[in-house]
Amino acid sequence: MNKRLIREKIYWLGAVDWDRRLFDSLIPLPDGTTYNAYLIEGSEKTALLDTVDPPMEDKLMAQLEGIPKIDYLISHHAEQDHSGTIGRVLEKFPGASVVVTAKAKTMLMDLLQIPEDKFLTVDDGQALSLGDKTLKFIHTPWVHWPETMVTYLEEDRILFSCDFFGSHIATSDLYVIDRCRVYEAAKRYFAEIMMPFRSIIAKNLDKLKDYEIDMIAPSHGQIYDDPAWIMDAYGQWVNGPPQNLVVLPYVSMHGSTRQMVDYLTAALAEKGIRVELFDLPVTDIGKLAMSLVDAATIVVGTPTVLAGPHPAAAYAAFLANALRPKARFLSIVGSYGWGGKTVETLAGMIGNLKVEVLDPVLCKGLPKQDTFEALDNLADAIAAKHRGQELV
Ligand code: FEO
Repeated sequence: MNKRLIREKIYWLGAVDWDRRLFDSLIPLPDGTTYNAYLIEGSEKTALLDTVDPPMEDKLMAQLEGIPKIDYLISHHAEQDHSGTIGRVLEKFPGASVVVTAKAKTMLMDLLQIPEDKFLTVDDGQALSLGDKTLKFIHTPWVHWPETMVTYLEEDRILFSCDFFGSHIATSDLYVIDRCRVYEAAKRYFAEIMMPFRSIIAKNLDKLKDYEIDMIAPSHGQIYDDPAWIMDAYGQWVNGPPQNLVVLPYVSMHGSTRQMVDYLTAALAEKGIRVELFDLPVTDIGKLAMSLVDAATIVVGTPTVLAGPHPAAAYAAFLANALRPKARFLSIVGSYGWGGKTVETLAGMIGNLKVEVLDPVLCKGLPKQDTFEALDNLADAIAAKHRGQELV
């Protein structure tokens, strides 16, 4: 992809990674991604905002051919998918200053071994003039690491937001065209990397209320030329109450736990509660994370294996504990053969969750009449808890 004009003297640069399917050796990328950089040519100074992931660095360097100078290289975020080509850019433009938060400076010195004298640190709210264009830096920690900031281009009212509001979609579209598709991808990205920091992100959103924003240009995915809806969506994900939804990640070895899961799902549905099931061995964890953004209740379904939960269920519990969703209730269902400590082990893995644990339902072997009665009681308990909450 060649560089593309956004507004007068403002360009998209970067790379479309059509084939990437995993990020951070953790996050599924079903639709690939993009690494967006931006070039702003002021009347006196030129700024490059972010770079690209190192395997794509030749694409960025080709786009920079013919650019006579870069005075400032704005690095919003030290993660390598945006910072990893800074060294190469500095080789070509040795006079450029790398503009960062103080925390990003130390991180980039550690991660990329960029010399200290290359940095210009900026405070929250500080402005930098390019002549006829002015950059204002807004510190926005934890979108996605503690050092992150965004840049507001005052004259054009564009917010360059890096991971904040980003989405992993590889496409040749420069702007958001399919809002539903981008909503899903942006929610997935929020769930995977920002959900644990909801209270800080709420403060970041509040800070942005001081700015008139005509356009949001993130560093993954397409540009929002009508950004109000994505800011509203973030507001809901961060501040909104949970939904009348049970997320049910489960694993079953010989079908007994699956029978319990199916019975509970039907019982909940009859009470008007939505349920989303995830068969863990074949689950896209990004989809599970998205459901965790909304769910009021989590029910983990697992057989007992080697005296504890199935490792796939333990992984799901570990993930939920790390993502710290807004769920308020949790329970466990599953089958065992002769004994074990499944409930105790899982309960010990969710210390970060602010949930009330509802009575688990375990059965020996195939579920029987008393198991189904216990599952009915669990469905009744969940329904009663949901009725007592402000849910949407
Ligand atoms: Fe797109 Fe946190 O890097």
